[in-house]
Amino acid sequence: MTDRYCVIGNPVAHSKSPLIHAAFAAQTGHDLVYDRELAPVDGFDAHVQGLIAGGMRGANVTVPFKLDAARLATRLSARARAAGAVNTLSFIDGAIVGDNTDGPGLVADILKNAGVALRGARVLLLGAGGAARGVVLPLLDAGAASIVVANRTRATADALIATFDDARVTACEYADIVTVFDVVVNATSASLAGGLPPVPACAFSAATLALDMMYAAEPTPFMDFAASRGAQVRDGLGMLVEQAAEAFLVWRGVRPETAAVLAMLRHPA
Ligand code: ATR
Repeated sequence: MTDRYCVIGNPVAHSKSPLIHAAFAAQTGHDLVYDRELAPVDGFDAHVQGLIAGGMRGANVTVPFKLDAARLATRLSARARAAGAVNTLSFIDGAIVGDNTDGPGLVADILKNAGVALRGARVLLLGAGGAARGVVLPLLDAGAASIVVANRTRATADALIATFDDARVTACEYADIVTVFDVVVNATSASLAGGLPPVPACAFSAATLALDMMYAAEPTPFMDFAASRGAQVRDGLGMLVEQAAEAFLVWRGVRPETAAVLAMLRHPA
């Protein structure tokens, strides 16, 4: 029987995940289908229970349900617990297992696709919301020497670093940034509204990797700003494909090759 998976979101029509997982299934020869599921904003739990009753094997979870998914899960992986959010659910014998592959996806994109080392790297993380929180532990596990969390609202950054209680993770305000970083990750939602977080130019050099978790047809204002300082820039498309490969690994026990899928998304035939 063909195994069924989906991405649950609201909105979800724009999601590229069905395309990515169809490519992974073809590549690995796995017999599965992967659909989009639009859940009501106030009806996530009932929607998931309906999917389970219908035989769904697993689901990716996107905006605005990642916290709901963490609450609904009957078991959480260590990385989902650290992230405080879930983007991958597995439905196994009555259990709802929650995992989070966003952070490992970011790390894989930096290491493999950008070819940039994280061991010993000084990382500047912009933003202190769910997207930022999810990547802290995977960046530390990859060997980052330090992670400075800069946020408009200082108290949110302080609260985030308190959950990690690790001397390598510190908080600051944008105005406090006076040095250059090896890696700058834009985990704010500023790009969604065409905005730019107030990060000073001195954070970037030609040796910096600047990565925006967002992606769009055109470079984001953050990418343009970093490029004007000579930095290597990336959007979030590579992270999207890598988090999907990690989810496929969780569900199917094999991690698909990502390069050809990323190339297909960048240059659709
Ligand atoms: P997500 O789950 O995507 O992280 P979120 O929890 O709403 O979304 O967090 C959004 C983050 O983007 C916050 O860190 C927010 O900063 P504040 O805590 O100060 O609100 C940040 N953000 C949004 N727009 C921004 C902008 N124009 N400049 C700087 N930071 C911005």
